[in-house]
Amino acid sequence: MSFDASTARGDLILTRITKEYGDFKAVDDLTLTIPKGSFFALLGPYGCGKTTTLRMIAGLEEPTVGSIHLGETDITTTKPYQRPINTVFQNYALFPHLTIFENIAFGLRRRGIKDVDAEVNKVLNLVELPHLAGRKPTQLSGGQQQRIALARAIVNRPALLLLDEPLGALDLKLRRQMQIELKWIQKEVGLTFVHVTHDQEEAMTMADTIAVMNEGQIEQMGSPADLYDNPETAFVANFLGQSNLIKGTISGNDGDSIIADLYGQKISLPKKRSHAVDNSIYAELIVFEQNDDGVAPFNKGDAVNISWNPIFTFALRGDEDVTAGSEVNPEVLDEE
Ligand SMILES: Nc1ncnc2c1ncn2[C@@H]1O[C@H](COP(=O)(O)OP(=O)(O)OP(=O)(O)O)[C@@H](O)[C@H]1O
Ligand SMILES: [Mg+2]
Repeated sequence: MSFDASTARGDLILTRITKEYGDFKAVDDLTLTIPKGSFFALLGPYGCGKTTTLRMIAGLEEPTVGSIHLGETDITTTKPYQRPINTVFQNYALFPHLTIFENIAFGLRRRGIKDVDAEVNKVLNLVELPHLAGRKPTQLSGGQQQRIALARAIVNRPALLLLDEPLGALDLKLRRQMQIELKWIQKEVGLTFVHVTHDQEEAMTMADTIAVMNEGQIEQMGSPADLYDNPETAFVANFLGQSNLIKGTISGNDGDSIIADLYGQKISLPKKRSHAVDNSIYAELIVFEQNDDGVAPFNKGDAVNISWNPIFTFALRGDEDVTAGSEVNPEVLDEE
């Protein structure tokens, strides 16, 4: 029997993948399992290696080191078209001269599938655009084109659908709407989705599991709630939202809690939320003032009291770069 990767199904397993361009490592010793049927997001800042990772999964780049398996099948060097994998890019890439129907039918016809009409109509209904079947791509809005690109990928029933910033070209309102629809479609068809984005909110809304990437490596992986509530590094804490990081020293232990000394204030925090080695770290505090009828807003320099529920505190290593992953320029912090 000849080797046929197109039937490969199962978890996607990346093992110790490295991609070097000259002496630069775009992806650095990355090991990752993406469970079959999950919605997985690769989240990270510009240039951290997301697209490179996706291109290796798709077969458009070969890893310098490492292997890629789909279930039991090693697909590391399998040609892109022999992999049961489809990719949706940011810029739709529909064929301009073909109708929407023929765009979707393209892959089916090439594979000699018989019942093209039924298959195409099924996915056109799924993306709720059956009435546009006869139009050309330029006669569609950006969001509609993106849905057709998705339909064209799904119709091939790949084991794996790769999405590289598929909503990047859409305006905010349409992007939010498409996030919900994409998630719904993924559940409906039960495919594995690997979604690349640098938009935290997008990853948080859609993914079952998020891997936060930084400089070619995975900083932390977990459910959106895990990452948000219990970041393990300053990079993850800052990249996922605005965190207040205060320098302090661990001064004691109390059952399931540790006691930290923050400039003389003792606070207790859950041990399982501590990733500190000795100290936690410091930044300026950012507080959003609640709208409160009848109370004059604070002025810069006013003395204020702040409090928070200690169970929401987390602790990080004291030797980290406090601005890692944040969009705040450290020079601005110094000036204030
Ligand atoms: N063909 C190439 N030759 C040399 N360097 C490359 C090549 N492709 C990518 N790189 C570099 O590898 C790094 C990772 O690129 P990649 O496209 O994977 O980033 P990304 O996370 O997708 O970023 P973005 O959010 O901007 O799309 C970048 O520094 C990029 O310049
Ligand atoms: Mg990219």
